[in-house]
Order: sequence, then structure tokens, then C-alpha cells
Amino acid sequence: MLFIHLQVVRETPDRYHNGRVPIKSRQKRFHVFSSGFINSLTNNLITLIYKIMNLPYAEPFKTKMVENIYRSTKDQREKWIADASFNLFNLRSEQVYIDLLTDSGTGAMSDKQWASIMVGDESYAGSSSYYHLKEAIKELTGFDYFLPTHQGRAAENVLFSVLVKAGDIVPGNSHFDTTKGHIEFRKATAVDCTVDTASDTTSPNPFKGNVDTGKLENVLKATAADKISCVILTITNNTVGGQPVSMANIREVHKLSKKYGIRLIIDSARFAENAYFIKTREEGYADKDIRDIAREMFSYADGMTMSSKKDAIVNIGGFVGFRDEELFRQASTYNIIFEGFITYGGMSGRDMNALAQGLYEGTEFPYLESRIKQVAYLGQKMKEYGIPVLEPFGGHAIFIDAKRFIPDFPKEEFPAQTLALEFYIEGGIRGAEIGALMADRDPVTRANRYPALEMVRLALPRRVYSNNHMDYVAAVVRNVFEKRNDIRKGFKIIWEAPIMRHFTVKLDRV
Ligand code: F0G
Repeated sequence: MLFIHLQVVRETPDRYHNGRVPIKSRQKRFHVFSSGFINSLTNNLITLIYKIMNLPYAEPFKTKMVENIYRSTKDQREKWIADASFNLFNLRSEQVYIDLLTDSGTGAMSDKQWASIMVGDESYAGSSSYYHLKEAIKELTGFDYFLPTHQGRAAENVLFSVLVKAGDIVPGNSHFDTTKGHIEFRKATAVDCTVDTASDTTSPNPFKGNVDTGKLENVLKATAADKISCVILTITNNTVGGQPVSMANIREVHKLSKKYGIRLIIDSARFAENAYFIKTREEGYADKDIRDIAREMFSYADGMTMSSKKDAIVNIGGFVGFRDEELFRQASTYNIIFEGFITYGGMSGRDMNALAQGLYEGTEFPYLESRIKQVAYLGQKMKEYGIPVLEPFGGHAIFIDAKRFIPDFPKEEFPAQTLALEFYIEGGIRGAEIGALMADRDPVTRANRYPALEMVRLALPRRVYSNNHMDYVAAVVRNVFEKRNDIRKGFKIIWEAPIMRHFTVKLDRV
């Protein structure tokens, strides 16, 4: 038996002291201590002191509760995966030893988040929890209006119900699959304008998530403005490997959108990780606080969708943020139909409290540093074993390049899915295919789409696994890599859903 650890986080100023809802004066004091200036000063000072003392970084939290996990045998796993029709989504979680399927909703909440759950206000309308969340969103994004939703795709559903019509074009940088799903479901078209280097897993470009502004301008020029729903900028860019978008690029995309009179919406699931990369990679941002960087990123947008299950470190939740009151009003109707009243959306009061607290914790530099360095630790280990991984390493996951891992493998037999299944059978690790299976069929021709990138994503839940777990994961992938010449046959589809097939697909060995 090994364990996953939950943590105590002691980095954010007390918001729920002794479980009491903060009174006004406490809130004021909180604002003073969480202001960009003090934060930036403290973080920079701590980083400097550790540098001078020649000490490495370490997690800014400790373990308070553990969850046991079961290490199964290879025979068990071979049976379980066949019973699951070779679809990793069909496994029971007990059948997985280290679960890297997603970093979404799988993070460990802090003691302060759990404490905030106890003081959630479950009033149907106008709860204090709603106002805590509103305050946190305003402070971190600058948006005056927001609608709570039960998760990110619900935020997309609410916003796109207003913005996206049949026949529309929605340009962006590698729309996430649910985003694309919502666009295509409305008979509109998502146009990918990501930079070309994004499909080269060896290119060292530090901002491979960027939009190619030339491609974007061509789309904006060629299409009537009333046929473009909005431009969607996904930060970080999950689909091409958790790669960041630079501030310079966000600014450029903003300028182009303004020039053509189109709204810019930020898909913000991993906005804090994006801010970390801007701080550590982009000139002029090294001394800026993460929250100031976040506010600047959002200052270029007209709205945002958020899956809070990622950078806000909660198990469920999301929201839509708006600058414009009129758009907020229009979207409110859809929120009420699909999600719930506008002051709770799809969330309970306690969930909104935990989310407000999580937004603050997720934008602390020491936390982000430990998170992103753990991802890099796993990537570096794999690199040392010669495993072809996407570089630079992403913010939330390590992506294994299936085309380089098994180069002659037929694309029709789903190479990345085949590898993901091998990793599970070898060591009980569950990753996710980001390749042809997920790319689905063309909605018009129904032909299979074969994307440039064919990868297995190993996404790290936040504040959950230790670096010993990372060593184990790297060793499992190494074992499969050493046997790669024996991997000759892949999988065929025996049943698939008409849209977003990868979640429920049934496969069999070729
Ligand atoms: N946008 C991005 C960039 C995402 O990565 C996700 C979810 C969503 C939107 C949708 O949010 O799941 O809360 O409805 N990504 C998860 C993942 C599922 O595993 O990458 P959701």
C-alpha cells in the first residue's frame, strides 16, 4: 500500500479564521496583505534568500491526510483493461495505481479550503459565498460581472449560447475538445491559428501556445465580422502540450480582435500556470507578481470561461467572466436555464467558498513553482531515459510523442492510445490519449482526423503525488520504451459516439 497525500497550505493570508466568515475589517486587512506589492516583495525576497543560501525549492505545504492506493498485478490489469473495452475512461479508479488521466478536479484542497466549506452559505439567492467568489474574481481578473457554472464546459455552453450561431467561425489557438465540441454542436467552425512550431515536439520555442497572428488576421480579414462569434485564446494551450501564450501575443491578439471589432474570450483553465511561464520566461516580467500578470492578461479580454477544476484547485466548479453588462445579462438567461440561479450557477455555496480560496492559493508563486517544477522533474527523468517527450515541458503535464516512440506504427491503429494502454498494463498508470482518437471525425465528411501531434498526456494532479511517484512513473514508461520494438499491433474501434467519441469509445485489438 502506498499513499497519495493531501496537504496543509500555509501560504495565503487567513480568509476564514477559525471557521468564521471574515468581517469587513478582516477583509480589508486581507486586501492589504494580498496586494500585488506586498506579495511580490515577499515572494521575491524569499526566492532571493533561498538563492543566496544555495537551497533548493520545496513544496510550500505539508501532508495532513492520506488516501491509500492499491498496487495491482499485471495479470489483474490485463483482465481489467480488456473488460473496459481498452478505454482507460472505463476503468474503476481502484484499478489504477497512479492516476494521471487529468489534472482536472483531481487536486488536493487545503485545510483552509475545507474550512471554508464548513461556512458555505446555501441561500438560494445572494449568498455570502457568491459575494466572496465575486470579490476574488474581481481581484484576480478585473471582471465586474460573472456567472457561476458547474464546470468549464458549462461556462462554454452558457457563453456560446449567446455568441455562437450556425455558420459562424471561431478562430483560436487549438480549442480544447469541449470548446470545439460546443462550437461544432452549434454547426459553427473552430479555426485553429496556433503557431506552426507547436506541432514540432522538439522546438525550444518558450511560447508554443501562441496564436500565429498572420493566420488569425487572414481569418478575420476573409470573414464578415457578424460571422465571427469571438476569438478564443486558451491559456495555457492544453492541446499542444500545456504550452504558454506570451503576454506579447495576448496583446497582439487583443489588438487584432479590436481592429476587426471581434470579442476576445480567454479560456482560462490554467491561467495561473500561464502567468508563471510569463514571469519566468518573458522579458520584463521577472519581478512582477503572478496576480499582476494575471490581471494584465485579462485586461486584454472581453470575457473569460473558467474551468476552476484546474488552477483554482477545486474538485468541481467554473464560471464565465464578463466586462460588458449587456453580454452578462444575455448570458444570465442561459445560466438560469442550464445551470441555476445567477448567484449559484451549478455550484453549492460551500463549493463557491472553496473556489474563492483556491483562486488565491493557485496564484501564489511558491505553490506554482513547486507544481511546475514537479512536472519538469518527471519530464527530465524521462528525457534521461531517452523517452521522446514534448519540450519545453508543459505546465500541467508531460506529453509523450507517440510518433517518435513507435515511428513506424500505423496511424489508423491509434499509436498514442496503444502506448497509453501499454503504460497502464506495465505499471497501473493511467494517462490520456491526445491524438487521432480524441481528434474525432470531421463533422462534415465523417472521415477520421489525424492531427499533427499524436501524444500520451500524463497530467499531474495538484498537490497530490510525491516525486517518488514521479520516479515510478518514469520507470514504467522506460520499461515500455525498452520493449518498443515489440509493439506492432494497435486497436480498432468497435463502437463510437457521434461526437466526443474518446470518452466512451469501445476498442479491440487489431
Ligand atoms: N478548457 C480547457 C483548456 C480545458 O483543459 C478543459 C478541461 C476545459 C476547457 C473544460 O473544462 O472539464 O471543467 O468542463 N480539461 C480537462 C482535461 C478535462 O483533462 O484537460 P471542464
